[in-house]
Amino acid sequence: MSDYIELPPPQKELEFPLMRAIEQRRTKRRWDPVELSIQEISNLLWVACGVTVKETKRSKSRRTAPSACNTQEIQLYIALSYGLYRYEGNEHRLKEILSDDIRGDIGTQKMMKAAPVGLIYVSDFSRFKSFLFKEEKDKWLTAATDTGCISENVYLYAAATGLNTALLGLVNRERLQEIMGLGVHEKVIYTQSIGRALSK
Ligand SMILES: Cc1cc2nc3c(=O)[nH]c(=O)nc-3n(C[C@H](O)[C@H](O)[C@H](O)COP(=O)(O)O)c2cc1C
Repeated sequence: MSDYIELPPPQKELEFPLMRAIEQRRTKRRWDPVELSIQEISNLLWVACGVTVKETKRSKSRRTAPSACNTQEIQLYIALSYGLYRYEGNEHRLKEILSDDIRGDIGTQKMMKAAPVGLIYVSDFSRFKSFLFKEEKDKWLTAATDTGCISENVYLYAAATGLNTALLGLVNRERLQEIMGLGVHEKVIYTQSIGRALSK
């Protein structure tokens, strides 16, 4: 049986002005090695891929970030010191995938290996059923765009809450694919390192 971590409800009352978060959004590559709290992880994952409108008999759920044709093909994984988890937005919980610490594989740059949290954006290509995504290049383009929308939410949340973050293309995708045990239809698109800003 799978192990799950039930996340506390996300805190949605953050009062930091949106316009200031947009202005202060920055790629920052240094972090305090201290772990984030489970509340921060809950907020972060909800901001990224949270469900804001539940599925009904007639319509699919909606997420915090848009996706082409509402495909919702990006699966969000989080690497923590105590394991690798997949975020399940409907239940707002984490499903354990590995009990190993794989944070050293989030990015190839040295400072990325030391980040307390690593997000991994995986696109499930089997969800691209529309004729619009017939060719392989359409799938890659859409997966990268959908990841960009999600990662910007994370950037803005980080700017508003004193976290540092960097979206990463410098990733050994084949290695991650292998250690995560992904299927051939599941592609690592980008990763994103996150940690608390170092106190001055
Ligand atoms: C698709 C994409 C991939 C990126 N890959 C990396 C990366 O591998 N390593 C890194 O340090 N920064 C990476 N960045 C961050 C960019 O270097 C950064 O956004 C750029 O220098 C502008 O800085 P700013 O985000 O603070 O405005 C990436 C950004 C994007 C959008």
